Amino acid sequence: MSAPDRGEPSVKAASTRRQFLLGGAAAGVGAAATLGIGYALTPHGEATPASVPLNGDETVPFYGTHQAGVDTDAQAHAMFIGLYLHPETDRDGLRRMMGILTDDAARLAQGVPPLADSEPELAVAPARLTVTFGFGPGFVTRASGTGPQWLQPLPAFGIDQLQPEYGDGDLLIQVASDDPVTVAHATRMLLKDTRSFASLRWVQPGFRRAHGSVKPGTTMRNLFGQVDGTTNPTPGTTDFDKVVWATGGWLTGGTGAVIRRIRMDLDKWDRLDRSGRDQAVGRFQSNGAPLTSSPHEQAAEFDEPDFEAKTSTGFTVIPEFSHMARARPVEAGERIFRRAYNYQGPPVGDELSESGLIFVSYQADVERQFVPIQRRLDELDLLNEWTTPIGSAVFALPPGCAEGGFIGDTLLT
Ligand code: HEM
Repeated sequence: MSAPDRGEPSVKAASTRRQFLLGGAAAGVGAAATLGIGYALTPHGEATPASVPLNGDETVPFYGTHQAGVDTDAQAHAMFIGLYLHPETDRDGLRRMMGILTDDAARLAQGVPPLADSEPELAVAPARLTVTFGFGPGFVTRASGTGPQWLQPLPAFGIDQLQPEYGDGDLLIQVASDDPVTVAHATRMLLKDTRSFASLRWVQPGFRRAHGSVKPGTTMRNLFGQVDGTTNPTPGTTDFDKVVWATGGWLTGGTGAVIRRIRMDLDKWDRLDRSGRDQAVGRFQSNGAPLTSSPHEQAAEFDEPDFEAKTSTGFTVIPEFSHMARARPVEAGERIFRRAYNYQGPPVGDELSESGLIFVSYQADVERQFVPIQRRLDELDLLNEWTTPIGSAVFALPPGCAEGGFIGDTLLT
């Protein structure tokens, strides 16, 4: 019998690995079928995947009533970019810029290289890429538009130690995808096309768990280890629509975005024991359940917290000054949709890391919904001991557009 050609062992090796991963050939084909993966049998009776669905091929529609990237299930990687308009960029320039950027973003979201892409090979795996644009106060003034009245820097808060290099801006570009190469390429393509109209002010890369690392729908964890994002309106519900989408004027169907870069002192946090950590937020770090859920082992993340429950010594079980107790709404309208990302930079000084949260919230009215919460947290919040806001920016995110239109056309035409 002739020796197998050079290709055969590698087919077998690959097949053996697949069998191991899927639990044997027969079970493997069955499991693959339930996953919707088509399998074909080789002449040797071994199964090979006919088409393995790639997350890179997944796309999020760009055109629509709302911009993508707000109610989109958060992707693993994001880049938040703040730009300043050149002094000479007038209303007509804004229109041209947004026309070009819209075209770029729509193509990239479909895995199609934008015009004049010198690395078109990098555009082919959108991996749920979304590009979302926001306008700062300077943009709206330059467009000769008015409102919304909340579109201005947030009031100064006592806890703030803001660094100008992470603040404000005329134009926000938020790029997000499950693939970091896609984010890098899209960011570069979009920035190239802003050159004649605006200059870069700040860039903030952020990350969550990689795609496929945890079950879909798992609430994110921040770098303190906390489950972060439990009490949040659910996209696709009328409740979400009410909290997030603005009504009135050119912003109808758009929203307000607050982006706060909040430094988290991990070295100091390391010195806090588990019970202190749980008390600081009002939830168990282990599973995100409220401290009033008992016994602890049966507690679940989405259990209803009981803010009235008392300990035997008469204190509330969920401390009055815990982050959760202070952040929950006092007035019915004080609700926001949080969609944060972690950041980690190189160490500064003696610290092991420079880490924190790119806190991002979307709400129809920043003044009415976000500011009262931030005021309460500024007055008192146990978490302030370990967190410091170092960047802050507010943007109005215009509605989405139809094919043939452009983002911002309700303001600029
Ligand atoms: C680094 C800073 C922050 C960290 C580490 C953090 C962490 C957390 C955690 C672990 C929770 C509990 C789980 C959940 O419901 O998500 C929570 C809840 C919440 N946080 Fe924060 N947060 C931070 C900053 C902020 C800021 C700046 C705001 C708004 C001004 C905010 C608003 C809220 C709200 C509204 C809730 C839900 C409260 C409720 O139960 O009704 N957080 N946060």
